[in-house]
Amino acid sequence: MADNGVLPVDKLTISETVKEAEFSQRVLVRSILGRPDGGAGLAGQTLKVGGWVKKGREQGKGSFAFLELNDGSCTANLQLIIYSDVAPLGQFTPTGTSLHVEGVLQMPPADKQGKQSIELKVSKVLDVGAADPAKYPLPKTRLTLEFLRDYVHLRPRTNTISAIARIRNALAYATHTFFQKHGFLYVHTPIITTSDCEGAGEMFQVTTLINDSEKLEKELLKNPPPSQEDVDAARAAVKEKGGIVAKLKSDKADKSAITVAVAELTKAKETLSKIEERFNQKPGIPKKDGKVDYSQDFFARQAFLTVSGQLQVETFACALSSVYTFGPTFRAEHSHTSRHLAEFWMVEPEIAFADIEDDMKCAEAYVRFMCQWLLDNCLDDMEFIAEKFDEHAINRLKMVASTNFVRLTYTEAVTILEEAVSKGHQFENKVEWGIDLASEHEKYLTETKFESPVIVYNYPKGIKAFYMKVNPDNKTVAAMDVLVPKVGELIGGSQREENYEVIKERILEMGLPLEPYEWYLDLRRYGTVKHSGFGLGFERMILFATGIDNIRDVIPFPRFPGRADL
Ligand code: 4AD
Ligand code: MG
Repeated sequence: MADNGVLPVDKLTISETVKEAEFSQRVLVRSILGRPDGGAGLAGQTLKVGGWVKKGREQGKGSFAFLELNDGSCTANLQLIIYSDVAPLGQFTPTGTSLHVEGVLQMPPADKQGKQSIELKVSKVLDVGAADPAKYPLPKTRLTLEFLRDYVHLRPRTNTISAIARIRNALAYATHTFFQKHGFLYVHTPIITTSDCEGAGEMFQVTTLINDSEKLEKELLKNPPPSQEDVDAARAAVKEKGGIVAKLKSDKADKSAITVAVAELTKAKETLSKIEERFNQKPGIPKKDGKVDYSQDFFARQAFLTVSGQLQVETFACALSSVYTFGPTFRAEHSHTSRHLAEFWMVEPEIAFADIEDDMKCAEAYVRFMCQWLLDNCLDDMEFIAEKFDEHAINRLKMVASTNFVRLTYTEAVTILEEAVSKGHQFENKVEWGIDLASEHEKYLTETKFESPVIVYNYPKGIKAFYMKVNPDNKTVAAMDVLVPKVGELIGGSQREENYEVIKERILEMGLPLEPYEWYLDLRRYGTVKHSGFGLGFERMILFATGIDNIRDVIPFPRFPGRADL
Protein backbone atom coordinates (compact mmCIF):
# COMPACT_ATOMS: atom_id res chain seq x y z
CA MET A 1 0.00 0.00 0.00
CA ALA A 2 1.22 3.51 -0.77
CA ASP A 3 2.00 5.71 2.24
CA ASN A 4 -1.21 7.66 1.74
CA GLY A 5 -3.31 4.55 2.37
CA VAL A 6 -4.67 4.43 -1.17
CA LEU A 7 -3.72 1.46 -3.23
CA PRO A 8 -2.46 2.22 -6.72
CA VAL A 9 -4.90 0.56 -9.09
CA ASP A 10 -2.38 -1.79 -10.64
CA LYS A 11 -1.22 -2.91 -7.22
CA LEU A 12 -4.64 -3.82 -5.84
CA THR A 13 -4.84 -7.43 -4.90
CA ILE A 14 -7.93 -9.54 -4.72
CA SER A 15 -9.10 -9.89 -1.16
CA GLU A 16 -12.06 -11.67 0.28
CA THR A 17 -13.63 -8.62 1.86
CA VAL A 18 -13.48 -4.95 1.07
CA LYS A 19 -12.72 -2.49 3.84
CA GLU A 20 -14.97 0.38 4.78
CA ALA A 21 -13.33 3.78 4.32
CA GLU A 22 -11.96 5.04 7.60
CA PHE A 23 -13.90 7.89 9.23
CA SER A 24 -16.74 7.56 6.70
CA GLN A 25 -19.63 5.10 6.62
CA ARG A 26 -19.07 3.65 3.20
CA VAL A 27 -16.70 1.74 0.98
CA LEU A 28 -14.82 3.79 -1.60
CA VAL A 29 -15.94 2.97 -5.12
CA ARG A 30 -12.25 2.88 -6.03
CA SER A 31 -11.66 -0.04 -3.71
CA ILE A 32 -14.36 -2.00 -5.54
CA LEU A 33 -13.89 -1.07 -9.21
CA GLY A 34 -10.16 -0.39 -8.97
CA ARG A 35 -9.33 -4.03 -8.28
CA PRO A 36 -7.74 -6.02 -11.09
CA ASP A 37 -10.93 -8.11 -11.27
CA GLY A 38 -13.08 -4.96 -11.47
CA GLY A 39 -14.76 -5.98 -8.20
CA ALA A 40 -16.05 -9.36 -9.44
CA GLY A 41 -14.39 -11.20 -6.56
CA LEU A 42 -16.49 -9.21 -4.10
CA ALA A 43 -19.85 -10.56 -5.36
CA GLY A 44 -22.15 -11.44 -2.50
CA GLN A 45 -20.81 -8.88 -0.07
CA THR A 46 -23.08 -6.45 1.69
CA LEU A 47 -21.71 -2.94 1.96
CA LYS A 48 -22.52 0.76 1.96
CA VAL A 49 -21.55 3.30 -0.68
CA GLY A 50 -22.13 7.04 -0.98
CA GLY A 51 -21.85 9.35 -3.95
CA TRP A 52 -23.63 11.46 -6.52
CA VAL A 53 -25.77 10.16 -9.37
CA LYS A 54 -24.20 10.76 -12.77
CA LYS A 55 -26.95 9.16 -14.76
CA GLY A 56 -30.15 7.47 -13.74
CA ARG A 57 -32.85 5.71 -15.72
CA GLU A 58 -35.98 3.84 -14.74
CA GLN A 59 -36.57 0.57 -16.48
CA GLY A 60 -38.94 -2.38 -16.55
CA LYS A 61 -41.94 -0.01 -16.69
CA GLY A 62 -40.78 1.70 -13.54
CA SER A 63 -40.15 -1.51 -11.56
CA PHE A 64 -36.44 -0.78 -11.10
CA ALA A 65 -33.79 1.85 -11.89
CA PHE A 66 -30.14 1.83 -12.88
CA LEU A 67 -28.06 4.56 -11.28
CA GLU A 68 -24.46 5.43 -12.11
CA LEU A 69 -22.88 6.51 -8.85
CA ASN A 70 -19.61 8.44 -8.57
CA ASP A 71 -17.95 9.22 -5.25
CA GLY A 72 -14.87 11.06 -6.50
CA SER A 73 -12.46 8.29 -5.51
CA CYS A 74 -11.94 7.35 -9.18
CA THR A 75 -13.36 8.24 -12.57
CA ALA A 76 -15.36 5.01 -12.83
CA ASN A 77 -18.99 4.90 -11.67
CA LEU A 78 -20.50 2.08 -9.68
CA GLN A 79 -23.77 0.83 -11.17
CA LEU A 80 -26.58 0.59 -8.64
CA ILE A 81 -29.76 -1.32 -9.29
CA ILE A 82 -32.68 -0.39 -7.10
CA TYR A 83 -36.17 -1.89 -7.17
CA SER A 84 -39.35 0.10 -6.58
CA ASP A 85 -40.23 -2.00 -3.52
CA VAL A 86 -37.21 -0.49 -1.72
CA ALA A 87 -38.23 3.13 -2.30
CA PRO A 88 -40.02 5.26 -4.91
CA LEU A 89 -37.56 5.50 -7.82
CA GLY A 90 -38.24 8.99 -9.25
CA GLN A 91 -36.27 10.74 -6.50
CA PHE A 92 -33.04 8.90 -7.33
CA THR A 93 -32.65 9.31 -11.07
CA PRO A 94 -31.90 13.04 -11.49
CA THR A 95 -28.25 13.80 -12.18
CA GLY A 96 -26.61 15.41 -9.15
CA THR A 97 -28.69 13.56 -6.52
CA SER A 98 -26.60 12.35 -3.58
CA LEU A 99 -27.14 8.86 -2.27
CA HIS A 100 -25.96 6.85 0.70
CA VAL A 101 -27.14 3.29 0.34
CA GLU A 102 -26.58 -0.23 1.53
CA GLY A 103 -26.73 -3.20 -0.79
CA VAL A 104 -25.26 -6.44 -2.03
CA LEU A 105 -22.64 -6.64 -4.75
CA GLN A 106 -23.73 -8.94 -7.53
CA MET A 107 -22.60 -9.95 -10.99
CA PRO A 108 -24.80 -8.33 -13.62
CA PRO A 109 -26.74 -10.69 -15.93
CA ALA A 110 -24.42 -12.53 -18.35
CA ASP A 111 -25.52 -10.48 -21.40
CA LYS A 112 -24.65 -7.16 -19.63
CA GLN A 113 -21.31 -8.20 -18.23
CA GLY A 114 -19.28 -6.57 -20.95
CA LYS A 115 -19.96 -3.12 -19.53
CA GLN A 116 -20.12 -3.76 -15.81
CA SER A 117 -17.99 -6.19 -13.89
CA ILE A 118 -20.05 -5.75 -10.75
CA GLU A 119 -23.14 -3.85 -9.62
CA LEU A 120 -24.73 -3.08 -6.28
CA LYS A 121 -28.28 -4.21 -5.66
CA VAL A 122 -29.61 -1.64 -3.19
CA SER A 123 -31.42 -3.05 -0.17
CA LYS A 124 -31.65 0.06 1.98
CA VAL A 125 -31.54 3.78 1.23
CA LEU A 126 -29.83 5.55 4.12
CA ASP A 127 -29.88 9.11 2.78
CA VAL A 128 -30.89 11.05 -0.30
CA GLY A 129 -30.00 14.65 -1.22
CA ALA A 130 -32.35 15.65 -4.01
CA ALA A 131 -31.26 17.74 -7.02
CA ASP A 132 -34.04 19.39 -8.99
CA PRO A 133 -33.32 18.41 -12.61
CA ALA A 134 -35.02 21.57 -13.87
CA LYS A 135 -32.52 23.70 -11.96
CA TYR A 136 -29.31 21.64 -11.56
CA PRO A 137 -26.71 23.56 -13.58
CA LEU A 138 -24.60 20.58 -14.65
CA PRO A 139 -26.71 18.41 -16.90
CA LYS A 140 -25.32 15.06 -17.98
CA THR A 141 -24.34 16.29 -21.43
CA ARG A 142 -20.64 16.90 -21.95
CA LEU A 143 -19.76 20.38 -20.73
CA THR A 144 -16.81 22.51 -21.80
CA LEU A 145 -14.17 23.42 -19.24
CA GLU A 146 -14.89 27.05 -20.00
CA PHE A 147 -18.57 26.62 -19.15
CA LEU A 148 -17.62 24.86 -15.91
CA ARG A 149 -15.54 27.86 -14.79
CA ASP A 150 -18.84 29.58 -14.03
CA TYR A 151 -19.61 26.82 -11.51
CA VAL A 152 -16.38 26.40 -9.56
CA HIS A 153 -18.45 25.20 -6.60
CA LEU A 154 -20.06 22.35 -8.53
CA ARG A 155 -17.42 21.47 -11.09
CA PRO A 156 -15.52 19.09 -8.74
CA ARG A 157 -18.41 16.71 -9.46
CA THR A 158 -17.37 16.35 -13.08
CA ASN A 159 -15.02 13.56 -14.16
CA THR A 160 -12.40 15.90 -15.55
CA ILE A 161 -12.14 18.28 -12.60
CA SER A 162 -12.14 15.40 -10.11
CA ALA A 163 -9.41 13.58 -12.08
CA ILE A 164 -7.35 16.79 -12.12
CA ALA A 165 -7.93 17.19 -8.37
CA ARG A 166 -6.57 13.70 -7.76
CA ILE A 167 -3.58 14.34 -10.00
CA ARG A 168 -2.94 17.62 -8.21
CA ASN A 169 -3.13 15.88 -4.87
CA ALA A 170 -0.72 13.19 -6.08
CA LEU A 171 1.76 15.84 -7.25
CA ALA A 172 1.61 17.59 -3.87
CA TYR A 173 2.25 14.28 -2.14
CA ALA A 174 5.09 13.55 -4.58
CA THR A 175 6.58 16.96 -3.84
CA HIS A 176 6.71 16.40 -0.10
CA THR A 177 7.95 12.84 -0.62
CA PHE A 178 10.77 13.97 -2.91
CA PHE A 179 12.04 16.74 -0.64
CA GLN A 180 11.59 14.83 2.61
CA LYS A 181 13.42 11.87 1.07
CA HIS A 182 16.35 14.13 0.28
CA GLY A 183 16.52 15.67 3.74
CA PHE A 184 14.86 19.02 3.00
CA LEU A 185 12.90 20.73 5.74
CA TYR A 186 9.45 22.14 4.97
CA VAL A 187 9.33 25.80 6.02
CA HIS A 188 6.17 27.92 6.03
CA THR A 189 7.00 31.33 4.63
CA PRO A 190 4.68 34.29 5.15
CA ILE A 191 1.83 35.14 2.84
CA ILE A 192 1.83 38.75 3.98
CA THR A 193 5.18 40.36 3.30
CA THR A 194 6.83 43.76 3.29
CA SER A 195 9.48 42.98 0.65
CA ASP A 196 9.05 42.52 -3.09
CA CYS A 197 11.03 39.40 -4.04
CA GLU A 198 10.99 39.79 -7.78
CA GLY A 199 11.18 43.58 -7.67
CA ALA A 200 8.71 43.65 -10.52
CA GLY A 201 6.09 45.75 -8.73
CA GLU A 202 3.34 43.21 -9.34
CA MET A 203 2.16 42.93 -5.78
CA PHE A 204 -1.31 43.02 -4.27
CA GLN A 205 -1.43 45.43 -1.39
CA VAL A 206 -2.72 44.35 2.03
CA THR A 207 -4.34 47.27 3.83
CA THR A 208 -7.16 48.03 6.22
CA LEU A 209 -7.04 51.76 5.46
CA ILE A 210 -9.87 51.51 2.96
CA ASN A 211 -12.31 49.58 5.14
CA ASP A 212 -11.36 51.69 8.17
CA SER A 213 -12.10 54.81 6.19
CA GLU A 214 -15.43 53.44 4.98
CA LYS A 215 -16.37 52.46 8.52
CA LEU A 216 -15.49 55.93 9.76
CA GLU A 217 -17.50 57.59 7.05
CA LYS A 218 -20.58 55.57 8.01
CA GLU A 219 -19.97 56.22 11.68
CA LEU A 220 -19.68 59.98 11.14
CA LEU A 221 -22.93 60.02 9.17
CA LYS A 222 -24.75 58.20 11.96
CA ASN A 223 -23.05 60.13 14.75
CA PRO A 224 -22.00 63.56 13.49
CA PRO A 225 -18.63 64.66 14.91
CA PRO A 226 -18.53 67.23 17.76
CA SER A 227 -18.39 70.90 16.78
CA GLN A 228 -15.67 73.40 17.73
CA GLU A 229 -18.06 74.70 20.42
CA ASP A 230 -18.32 71.19 21.92
CA VAL A 231 -14.53 71.01 22.08
CA ASP A 232 -14.27 74.47 23.61
CA ALA A 233 -16.92 73.59 26.21
CA ALA A 234 -15.10 70.38 27.14
CA ARG A 235 -11.83 72.31 27.45
CA ALA A 236 -13.53 74.91 29.64
CA ALA A 237 -14.88 72.11 31.85
CA VAL A 238 -11.36 70.73 32.32
CA LYS A 239 -10.09 74.19 33.15
CA GLU A 240 -12.87 74.76 35.65
CA LYS A 241 -12.40 71.39 37.38
CA GLY A 242 -8.64 71.97 37.41
CA GLY A 243 -9.24 75.32 39.11
CA ILE A 244 -11.40 73.69 41.74
CA VAL A 245 -8.73 71.11 42.55
CA ALA A 246 -6.01 73.78 42.76
CA LYS A 247 -8.16 75.91 45.01
CA LEU A 248 -9.01 73.04 47.36
CA LYS A 249 -5.35 72.10 47.56
CA SER A 250 -4.17 75.64 48.32
CA ASP A 251 -6.94 75.95 50.93
CA LYS A 252 -5.60 72.71 52.45
CA ALA A 253 -9.14 71.40 52.28
CA ASP A 254 -10.40 68.11 53.54
CA LYS A 255 -8.69 65.12 51.83
CA SER A 256 -11.97 63.49 50.79
CA ALA A 257 -13.16 66.73 49.17
CA ILE A 258 -9.90 66.86 47.14
CA THR A 259 -10.32 63.22 46.08
CA VAL A 260 -13.84 63.92 44.78
CA ALA A 261 -12.63 67.02 42.87
CA VAL A 262 -9.67 65.13 41.35
CA ALA A 263 -12.02 62.35 40.20
CA GLU A 264 -14.21 64.95 38.50
CA LEU A 265 -11.19 66.52 36.84
CA THR A 266 -10.03 63.11 35.54
CA LYS A 267 -13.51 62.48 34.13
CA ALA A 268 -13.56 65.87 32.42
CA LYS A 269 -10.15 65.18 30.90
CA GLU A 270 -11.33 61.83 29.56
CA THR A 271 -14.40 63.40 28.03
CA LEU A 272 -12.23 66.08 26.40
CA SER A 273 -9.85 63.54 24.95
CA LYS A 274 -12.74 61.53 23.48
CA ILE A 275 -14.32 64.66 22.01
CA GLU A 276 -11.00 65.79 20.57
CA GLU A 277 -10.32 62.37 19.09
CA ARG A 278 -13.69 62.36 17.35
CA PHE A 279 -13.28 66.02 16.35
CA ASN A 280 -9.95 65.19 14.66
CA GLN A 281 -11.28 62.18 12.77
CA LYS A 282 -11.43 63.05 9.08
CA PRO A 283 -13.11 60.78 6.52
CA GLY A 284 -10.92 59.37 3.73
CA ILE A 285 -7.50 57.70 3.60
CA PRO A 286 -5.15 59.29 6.15
CA LYS A 287 -2.41 61.38 4.57
CA LYS A 288 0.84 62.90 5.71
CA ASP A 289 2.85 65.37 3.59
CA GLY A 290 0.50 64.67 0.69
CA LYS A 291 1.18 60.92 0.76
CA VAL A 292 -0.81 58.02 2.21
CA ASP A 293 0.10 57.70 5.88
CA TYR A 294 0.85 54.00 6.22
CA SER A 295 1.88 54.44 9.84
CA GLN A 296 -1.89 54.35 10.46
CA ASP A 297 -2.31 51.11 8.50
CA PHE A 298 -2.73 47.71 10.17
CA PHE A 299 0.96 46.84 10.20
CA ALA A 300 2.04 50.49 10.62
CA ARG A 301 3.76 50.13 7.23
CA GLN A 302 2.93 49.14 3.67
CA ALA A 303 2.34 45.39 3.28
CA PHE A 304 1.64 43.05 0.36
CA LEU A 305 0.74 39.49 -0.58
CA THR A 306 3.89 37.54 -1.38
CA VAL A 307 4.99 36.93 -4.99
CA SER A 308 7.45 34.27 -3.83
CA GLY A 309 8.60 32.80 -0.52
CA GLN A 310 12.20 32.75 -1.70
CA LEU A 311 13.72 35.63 0.26
CA GLN A 312 12.23 34.39 3.52
CA VAL A 313 13.06 30.74 2.88
CA GLU A 314 16.67 31.82 2.28
CA THR A 315 16.85 32.80 5.95
CA PHE A 316 16.20 29.17 6.88
CA ALA A 317 18.52 27.79 4.17
CA CYS A 318 21.26 29.93 5.70
CA ALA A 319 20.78 28.07 8.98
CA LEU A 320 19.23 24.68 8.24
CA SER A 321 20.88 24.07 4.85
CA SER A 322 18.28 22.29 2.68
CA VAL A 323 14.75 23.64 2.95
CA TYR A 324 11.67 24.17 0.82
CA THR A 325 8.47 26.13 0.93
CA PHE A 326 5.25 25.23 -0.87
CA GLY A 327 2.48 27.75 -0.69
CA PRO A 328 0.26 30.20 -2.50
CA THR A 329 1.81 33.20 -4.24
CA PHE A 330 0.12 36.21 -5.74
CA ARG A 331 0.85 38.40 -8.72
CA ALA A 332 -1.18 41.39 -9.81
CA GLU A 333 -0.15 40.99 -13.46
CA HIS A 334 -2.82 41.88 -15.94
CA SER A 335 -2.11 38.78 -18.01
CA HIS A 336 -5.02 37.03 -19.57
CA THR A 337 -2.98 34.11 -20.91
CA SER A 338 -3.69 30.42 -20.41
CA ARG A 339 -0.43 30.17 -18.40
CA HIS A 340 -0.95 32.91 -15.80
CA LEU A 341 -2.99 33.18 -12.64
CA ALA A 342 -3.18 35.97 -10.08
CA GLU A 343 -3.00 33.36 -7.31
CA PHE A 344 -0.92 30.25 -7.90
CA TRP A 345 1.08 27.74 -5.87
CA MET A 346 4.82 27.56 -5.95
CA VAL A 347 7.29 24.95 -4.71
CA GLU A 348 10.55 26.62 -3.74
CA PRO A 349 13.54 24.63 -2.52
CA GLU A 350 16.59 26.52 -1.29
CA ILE A 351 19.91 24.77 -0.76
CA ALA A 352 22.99 26.00 1.09
CA PHE A 353 26.48 25.08 -0.16
CA ALA A 354 25.00 24.55 -3.62
CA ASP A 355 25.75 26.25 -6.93
CA ILE A 356 23.76 26.58 -10.14
CA GLU A 357 24.91 23.13 -11.24
CA ASP A 358 23.45 21.52 -8.06
CA ASP A 359 20.32 23.61 -8.54
CA MET A 360 19.77 22.31 -12.08
CA LYS A 361 20.35 18.73 -10.92
CA CYS A 362 17.79 19.13 -8.16
CA ALA A 363 15.21 20.69 -10.49
CA GLU A 364 15.62 17.92 -13.03
CA ALA A 365 15.47 15.13 -10.44
CA TYR A 366 12.34 16.67 -8.89
CA VAL A 367 10.44 17.03 -12.17
CA ARG A 368 11.38 13.52 -13.27
CA PHE A 369 10.36 12.14 -9.88
CA MET A 370 6.92 13.74 -10.21
CA CYS A 371 6.42 12.26 -13.69
CA GLN A 372 7.32 8.77 -12.49
CA TRP A 373 5.10 9.23 -9.45
CA LEU A 374 2.05 9.91 -11.63
CA LEU A 375 2.79 6.84 -13.72
CA ASP A 376 3.09 4.74 -10.56
CA ASN A 377 0.24 6.19 -8.53
CA CYS A 378 -2.26 7.90 -10.81
CA LEU A 379 -2.32 5.88 -13.99
CA ASP A 380 -6.11 5.47 -14.16
CA ASP A 381 -6.66 9.24 -13.93
CA MET A 382 -3.87 9.86 -16.42
CA GLU A 383 -5.48 7.37 -18.83
CA PHE A 384 -8.79 9.18 -18.50
CA ILE A 385 -7.15 12.55 -19.17
CA ALA A 386 -5.12 11.16 -22.07
CA GLU A 387 -8.26 9.78 -23.69
CA LYS A 388 -10.25 12.99 -23.27
CA PHE A 389 -7.66 15.72 -23.68
CA ASP A 390 -4.18 14.78 -24.79
CA GLU A 391 -3.32 11.41 -26.22
CA HIS A 392 0.40 12.13 -25.72
CA ALA A 393 0.13 12.86 -22.01
CA ILE A 394 1.28 9.45 -20.75
CA ASN A 395 4.11 9.14 -23.26
CA ARG A 396 5.26 12.60 -22.28
CA LEU A 397 5.46 11.54 -18.64
CA LYS A 398 7.39 8.42 -19.60
CA MET A 399 9.73 10.39 -21.80
CA VAL A 400 10.47 13.01 -19.15
CA ALA A 401 10.86 10.44 -16.38
CA SER A 402 13.51 8.64 -18.39
CA THR A 403 15.38 11.34 -20.34
CA ASN A 404 18.15 13.70 -19.31
CA PHE A 405 17.14 17.30 -19.79
CA VAL A 406 18.96 19.28 -22.49
CA ARG A 407 21.12 22.07 -21.06
CA LEU A 408 22.00 25.22 -22.96
CA THR A 409 23.40 28.56 -22.00
CA TYR A 410 21.21 31.52 -22.85
CA THR A 411 23.80 32.53 -25.45
CA GLU A 412 23.57 29.10 -27.11
CA ALA A 413 19.77 29.30 -27.00
CA VAL A 414 19.81 32.68 -28.77
CA THR A 415 22.19 31.32 -31.42
CA ILE A 416 19.77 28.43 -32.06
CA LEU A 417 16.86 30.84 -32.36
CA GLU A 418 18.84 33.09 -34.71
CA GLU A 419 19.66 30.09 -36.86
CA ALA A 420 15.97 29.22 -36.98
CA VAL A 421 15.18 32.78 -38.12
CA SER A 422 17.86 32.62 -40.79
CA LYS A 423 16.27 29.40 -42.05
CA GLY A 424 12.92 31.15 -42.38
CA HIS A 425 11.25 30.43 -39.02
CA GLN A 426 9.13 33.41 -38.04
CA PHE A 427 8.84 34.67 -34.47
CA GLU A 428 6.63 37.58 -33.45
CA ASN A 429 9.29 38.85 -31.06
CA LYS A 430 12.69 39.82 -32.36
CA VAL A 431 15.57 37.52 -31.46
CA GLU A 432 18.82 39.09 -30.31
CA TRP A 433 21.18 38.68 -27.37
CA GLY A 434 19.72 40.50 -24.38
CA ILE A 435 16.01 39.84 -24.95
CA ASP A 436 13.91 38.00 -22.41
CA LEU A 437 12.87 34.75 -24.11
CA ALA A 438 9.21 34.95 -25.09
CA SER A 439 6.87 32.01 -24.80
CA GLU A 440 7.18 31.33 -28.57
CA HIS A 441 10.98 31.08 -28.23
CA GLU A 442 10.73 28.73 -25.27
CA LYS A 443 8.27 26.57 -27.18
CA TYR A 444 10.52 26.47 -30.21
CA LEU A 445 13.42 25.20 -28.11
CA THR A 446 11.53 22.60 -26.16
CA GLU A 447 8.90 21.46 -28.69
CA THR A 448 10.48 21.93 -32.11
CA LYS A 449 14.21 21.85 -31.69
CA PHE A 450 14.75 19.33 -28.88
CA GLU A 451 11.32 17.75 -28.18
CA SER A 452 12.45 17.44 -24.57
CA PRO A 453 12.70 19.53 -21.43
CA VAL A 454 15.44 22.12 -21.81
CA ILE A 455 17.29 24.01 -19.08
CA VAL A 456 18.50 27.42 -20.21
CA TYR A 457 21.07 29.02 -17.88
CA ASN A 458 23.34 32.08 -17.57
CA TYR A 459 20.91 34.79 -18.63
CA PRO A 460 21.83 38.45 -19.24
CA LYS A 461 21.79 40.19 -15.88
CA GLY A 462 19.68 43.04 -17.18
CA ILE A 463 16.56 40.88 -17.51
CA LYS A 464 16.80 38.99 -14.23
CA ALA A 465 16.10 39.72 -10.56
CA PHE A 466 18.57 41.46 -8.24
CA TYR A 467 19.31 38.42 -6.08
CA MET A 468 20.90 36.30 -8.82
CA LYS A 469 24.62 35.57 -8.69
CA VAL A 470 26.60 37.72 -11.10
CA ASN A 471 28.91 35.56 -13.25
CA PRO A 472 32.61 36.41 -13.68
CA ASP A 473 31.83 37.83 -17.18
CA ASN A 474 29.82 40.54 -15.34
CA LYS A 475 27.27 40.34 -18.16
CA THR A 476 25.30 37.27 -17.16
CA VAL A 477 23.84 35.85 -13.96
CA ALA A 478 23.73 32.24 -12.77
CA ALA A 479 20.01 31.93 -13.48
CA MET A 480 18.26 28.89 -14.92
CA ASP A 481 14.81 28.27 -16.36
CA VAL A 482 13.43 24.81 -16.99
CA LEU A 483 11.35 24.83 -20.17
CA VAL A 484 9.01 21.99 -21.03
CA PRO A 485 6.83 21.12 -24.04
CA LYS A 486 3.21 22.42 -23.92
CA VAL A 487 3.93 24.92 -21.17
CA GLY A 488 7.23 26.73 -21.75
CA GLU A 489 8.68 27.97 -18.46
CA LEU A 490 7.97 25.52 -15.65
CA ILE A 491 10.76 26.51 -13.26
CA GLY A 492 12.73 29.68 -12.62
CA GLY A 493 15.73 29.59 -10.33
CA SER A 494 19.29 30.69 -9.72
CA GLN A 495 22.37 30.66 -7.61
CA ARG A 496 21.99 33.59 -5.22
CA GLU A 497 24.45 36.44 -4.96
CA GLU A 498 26.16 35.86 -1.61
CA ASN A 499 28.63 38.75 -1.86
CA TYR A 500 27.43 41.66 0.28
CA GLU A 501 28.91 44.47 -1.82
CA VAL A 502 27.73 43.02 -5.13
CA ILE A 503 24.13 42.37 -4.04
CA LYS A 504 23.86 45.80 -2.42
CA GLU A 505 24.97 47.36 -5.71
CA ARG A 506 22.46 45.23 -7.61
CA ILE A 507 19.57 46.38 -5.40
CA LEU A 508 20.52 50.00 -5.97
CA GLU A 509 21.13 49.44 -9.68
CA MET A 510 17.57 48.16 -10.04
CA GLY A 511 16.23 51.30 -8.37
CA LEU A 512 14.97 49.41 -5.32
CA PRO A 513 15.11 50.90 -1.82
CA LEU A 514 17.69 49.30 0.50
CA GLU A 515 15.72 49.62 3.73
CA PRO A 516 13.25 46.73 3.17
CA TYR A 517 16.17 44.43 2.24
CA GLU A 518 18.43 45.16 5.22
CA TRP A 519 17.53 41.83 6.83
CA TYR A 520 18.29 40.09 3.53
CA LEU A 521 21.66 41.84 3.41
CA ASP A 522 22.34 40.59 6.95
CA LEU A 523 22.44 37.05 5.53
CA ARG A 524 25.43 38.28 3.48
CA ARG A 525 26.89 40.36 6.33
CA TYR A 526 27.03 37.48 8.78
CA GLY A 527 28.24 34.03 7.75
CA THR A 528 27.37 34.36 4.10
CA VAL A 529 27.19 31.10 2.16
CA LYS A 530 26.95 29.98 -1.44
CA HIS A 531 23.34 28.93 -1.99
CA SER A 532 20.85 28.25 -4.75
CA GLY A 533 17.19 27.54 -5.27
CA PHE A 534 14.29 27.60 -7.67
CA GLY A 535 10.53 27.98 -7.92
CA LEU A 536 8.29 25.53 -9.72
CA GLY A 537 4.86 26.79 -10.76
CA PHE A 538 2.67 24.00 -9.41
CA GLU A 539 -0.22 24.63 -11.82
CA ARG A 540 2.20 24.71 -14.75
CA MET A 541 3.39 21.25 -13.67
CA ILE A 542 -0.21 20.03 -13.75
CA LEU A 543 -0.70 21.60 -17.19
CA PHE A 544 2.41 19.85 -18.39
CA ALA A 545 1.40 16.49 -16.92
CA THR A 546 -2.19 16.52 -18.15
CA GLY A 547 -1.96 18.49 -21.35
CA ILE A 548 -4.97 20.56 -20.24
CA ASP A 549 -4.90 23.83 -22.17
CA ASN A 550 -5.86 26.42 -19.62
CA ILE A 551 -4.30 26.98 -16.21
CA ARG A 552 -7.69 28.12 -14.88
CA ASP A 553 -8.88 24.53 -15.00
CA VAL A 554 -6.09 22.96 -12.94
CA ILE A 555 -6.47 25.07 -9.78
CA PRO A 556 -9.59 24.52 -7.65
CA PHE A 557 -10.46 28.22 -7.43
CA PRO A 558 -8.90 30.26 -10.23
CA ARG A 559 -8.17 33.94 -9.66
CA PHE A 560 -7.39 36.11 -12.65
CA PRO A 561 -8.10 39.71 -13.68
CA GLY A 562 -11.81 40.37 -13.25
CA ARG A 563 -12.56 37.09 -11.52
CA ALA A 564 -12.34 35.69 -8.00
CA ASP A 565 -15.39 33.46 -7.39
CA LEU A 566 -16.20 32.19 -3.90
O1 4AD B 1 10.30 32.60 -12.41
P1 4AD B 1 9.60 33.07 -11.17
O2 4AD B 1 9.07 34.44 -11.17
O3 4AD B 1 10.64 32.83 -10.00
C1 4AD B 1 10.50 33.23 -8.71
O4 4AD B 1 9.52 33.72 -8.22
C2 4AD B 1 11.68 32.88 -7.87
N1 4AD B 1 11.65 33.75 -6.69
C3 4AD B 1 11.63 31.43 -7.50
C4 4AD B 1 12.80 30.97 -6.69
O5 4AD B 1 13.91 31.03 -7.16
N2 4AD B 1 12.57 30.52 -5.47
O6 4AD B 1 8.41 32.07 -10.85
C5 4AD B 1 8.65 30.69 -10.68
C6 4AD B 1 7.66 29.88 -11.47
C7 4AD B 1 7.68 30.15 -12.96
O7 4AD B 1 8.70 29.42 -13.59
C8 4AD B 1 6.31 29.68 -13.38
O8 4AD B 1 6.26 28.28 -13.52
C9 4AD B 1 5.46 30.05 -12.18
O9 4AD B 1 6.33 30.21 -11.08
N3 4AD B 1 4.72 31.30 -12.39
C10 4AD B 1 3.39 31.37 -12.57
N4 4AD B 1 2.45 30.42 -12.62
C11 4AD B 1 1.17 30.81 -12.80
N5 4AD B 1 0.79 32.10 -12.92
C12 4AD B 1 1.70 33.09 -12.88
N6 4AD B 1 1.29 34.37 -12.96
C13 4AD B 1 3.07 32.74 -12.69
N7 4AD B 1 4.21 33.46 -12.59
C14 4AD B 1 5.19 32.56 -12.40
MG1 MG C 1 10.67 33.25 -14.34
